Amino acid sequence: MKNRFVLIVFWAAVALLLIPLEVAVFAGQKVPLGLPPVPIPSDNPQNVAKIALGKRLFMDKRFSADSTVSCATCHDPDKAFTDGLPIAEGIKKKKGTRNSPTVINAAYYTSQFWDGRVPSLEEQAKGPFVNPVEHGLKDFSPILKVIKSDKEYLSLFKKAFGINAEKIGIEHVVKAIASFERTIVSGNSPFDRYMYGGEKGAMSEAAIRGLKLYRTKARCQDCHPIGQTSAIFTDNKFHNLGVGFSIIEPRLMEIVEKVKKAKEKGLKLDETILQKQDISELGRFVVTLNIEDIGRFKTPTLRNVAVTAPYMHDGSVETLEDVIELYDQGGEDNPMLDSGIRPLGLTEQEKADLVEFLKALTSPEYAGLLKDKK
Ligand code: HEC
Ligand code: HEC
Repeated sequence: MKNRFVLIVFWAAVALLLIPLEVAVFAGQKVPLGLPPVPIPSDNPQNVAKIALGKRLFMDKRFSADSTVSCATCHDPDKAFTDGLPIAEGIKKKKGTRNSPTVINAAYYTSQFWDGRVPSLEEQAKGPFVNPVEHGLKDFSPILKVIKSDKEYLSLFKKAFGINAEKIGIEHVVKAIASFERTIVSGNSPFDRYMYGGEKGAMSEAAIRGLKLYRTKARCQDCHPIGQTSAIFTDNKFHNLGVGFSIIEPRLMEIVEKVKKAKEKGLKLDETILQKQDISELGRFVVTLNIEDIGRFKTPTLRNVAVTAPYMHDGSVETLEDVIELYDQGGEDNPMLDSGIRPLGLTEQEKADLVEFLKALTSPEYAGLLKDKK
């Protein structure tokens, strides 16, 4: 409640102060049909300069060991903010262990990464720069050096935060990136127009049948919820579907003990998870060390899912048809399987209808990518 009040006061002040810029500010943050308001942390309010700065930082390849990688390498705006690869590739084509999730609507997650190991977009943005298989820097100093020798950056930091070169730190860099990411929100899909816009013709008959299945027999709604006035398609929780579990199953207890010991000694999470497949596959467990979290991963949003293949934390599922098959068979059998995952007994027609429904979650900005796929 308090946050919301602060937000209202903030936007009112912005509106008054920046009347000429008002349209730009509100165009940037206007919430598309079907989405709730974007949560904005009180210690990092949005402003136009900060968003522009964040966008530039997101695209800048100079912040990597060999100047070949930016955030946009793996979260490419032309590929719906992902990379189309099963497993992400950073500097020198070094491979990680996980699939690059889209950044679209990441602003709505209450934790970031497949295992939710960081609480905010700000904290998330620190990880990739110093990850050996991503931007590959040793520390943040090369980033600050580039920024401080670039007039345009200095002017943007001044406008965004009111600070001069000597005050600029990595906290400002990640705040700006997070502010930019909070503008990468997309709704307005055929589903939103049908569901929240009163346009009964916005979805095909097949997609409408798919929506009904989604909420009943197929049980998707349990973890990828649809609300009364908006939908983010994630419960922001962690579940075990069994994907990738066979990699760890034979040596499970051994790996679990290894991780427990390593964590006591201050294991570097980001680095280790993206370099060690067995540790990566433990999922949420590595964060909490709770046995029931073994093989659990964060429920991803389903918005724009038709243009962000391949799927799952390890990119092992190629198509939406294959995703539906996986759910229909009741996931991948394993001792820790989520109780909400069980065989569904879907007919071929029902499977096709569910896929049509998932395609109807594509926002107009990315609908072009959908056509390319056909
Ligand atoms: C080499 C490819 C690569 C680069 C470069 C990269 N990312 Fe990522 N990004 C990933 C992968 C892979 C994950 C998932 C990792 C995990 O869950 O452990 C991820 C996760 C994320 C998430 C969490 C989304 C979610 O669904 O939880 C955000 C936000 C994000 N990246 C933003 C960024 C930003 C900002 C940068 C630049 C500072 C960046 N990424 C650089 C590959 C990359
Ligand atoms: C018990 C909770 C749960 C249920 C029920 C569920 N999901 Fe999921 N869904 C998840 C989780 C968790 C993941 C990520 C799993 C992973 O990467 O290992 C996921 C991943 C997906 C993905 C891949 C998205 C991506 O970006 O990689 C799609 C598509 C999907 N689910 C659709 C569905 C559909 C359709 C249904 C109903 C048939 C459904 N889900 C039912 C929890 C659930």
